[in-house]
Amino acid sequence: MATTTKTAAAPKAGRNEHTVTLTDNATGKSWTFPVMDGSIGPKVIDVRKLYADTGFFTYDPGFTSTGSCQSALTFIDGDEGVLLHRGYAIEDLAEHSDFMEVCYLLLNGELPNAAQKAKFEHDITYHTMVHEQLQYLYRGFRRDAHPMAVMVGVVGALSAFYHDSTDINDPHQRMVASHRLIAKMPTIAAMAYKYSLGQPFVYPRNDLDYATNFLRMCFAVPCEDYRINPVLSKAMDRIFILHADHEQNASTSTVRLAGSSGANPFACIAAGIASLWGPAHGGANEAVLNMLREIGSKDKVPEYVKRAKSKDSGFRLMGFGHRVYKNYDPRAAVMRKTCHEVLEELGVKDEPLLDLAMELERVALEDDYFVSKKLYPNVDFYSGIILKAMGFPTSMFTVLFALARTVGWVAQWKEMIEDPSQKIGRPRQLYTGPTKRAYVAVAKRK
Ligand code: CMC
Repeated sequence: MATTTKTAAAPKAGRNEHTVTLTDNATGKSWTFPVMDGSIGPKVIDVRKLYADTGFFTYDPGFTSTGSCQSALTFIDGDEGVLLHRGYAIEDLAEHSDFMEVCYLLLNGELPNAAQKAKFEHDITYHTMVHEQLQYLYRGFRRDAHPMAVMVGVVGALSAFYHDSTDINDPHQRMVASHRLIAKMPTIAAMAYKYSLGQPFVYPRNDLDYATNFLRMCFAVPCEDYRINPVLSKAMDRIFILHADHEQNASTSTVRLAGSSGANPFACIAAGIASLWGPAHGGANEAVLNMLREIGSKDKVPEYVKRAKSKDSGFRLMGFGHRVYKNYDPRAAVMRKTCHEVLEELGVKDEPLLDLAMELERVALEDDYFVSKKLYPNVDFYSGIILKAMGFPTSMFTVLFALARTVGWVAQWKEMIEDPSQKIGRPRQLYTGPTKRAYVAVAKRK
């Protein structure tokens, strides 16, 4: 089978005169498919009628060449290392904006004016408490449960608490569910942490900003309040911004797929949390720190780099490589800078894990294997070192990622529900099992 393309595409979003022709070399039959332009980024071949017209499916495990939806939220140019939210560069948002503004931007498409911002912050703040009954759910978990396991359970259980915001066809209820999720996630995450420590839960405080309130819920105790450090609050807020959304990654696609059946929004976000947990995705931040601890000292770096290059070892450099970025992950650059700021603020003169991480980055980026495969540090490479310095245990790292990514999941879910072309997600397959055969009674089986 061969494909040919005709005429240049017009630089506007949507379908244009550009087409792609598919020829089946076995039969000589040809079919023509429309091409669609995004506002930027690669064009897509519209194959929605492929099966109906040709009888073929596409085969794309891991969706490396598949656009699963139209989205106006986030753009990534992986070759150039560019990440835009609604057109704004991540570096600008991390430097000049704050997480509440980024949440508003992702949900509503524009940065808020002062009045809109104040109202949004108020709306989020007044949803921060969770139903008192929810604490009994925590008590059903072992204290040593992984906090991501607790998060999957508790966020899924929100479906059983907030019945007045689950009609996904009602825009108001969608908005309330979105606000509840963004507002309650820090409370739920902090409760997971407190439960693991055996300390009392700390209620949210509505006079604090989002990041400071979260830090306080994690680190305050009834006998001693949390002393606010604006540098750490700012760093936490920036970490939230850097994780807010990232296009159609595994967890976001999971949320969209779960939501495409019309499922309860809280349950959909719980599905996203489950997907994020894996070490190839959000679990990498935890895996990076474990890896650095295992490497232990700079002289062992070459040995681990060698192992990462061997296919037989099954070992990869955690925090390195990305499906889309074939250049430095722009979030990793901001994260590295933030890491230095936080360590300086905390007076950490010498953090062996940071020295080790920088040495690992240096050695890997001079190595032909990593250079030729375009494997660069990703967002997870430096985040763990900052979170450790702030006092979070390794097991909480992915929880913080989930907290921050909730706005992205919610905004993508909302965009999907509001898309008139939305259908239930239902991929097909290349079947490789047995063809039809006769049932054999157990006594006659060999
Ligand atoms: N260390 C060593 N080799 C690697 C690594 C790595 N970290 N990442 C990719 N490779 C190699 C891989 O072996 C393959 O080699 P070959 O072509 O010879 O078979 C090649 O690079 C391409 O890798 P791939 O697995 O086909 O690429 P992918 O797009 O399917 O995977 C990835 C992307 C992020 C899962 C992968 O790079 C990885 O496992 N990295 C480590 C885990 C990690 O840091 N994940 C966080 C991702 S960013 C945050 C997030 O999404 O949550």
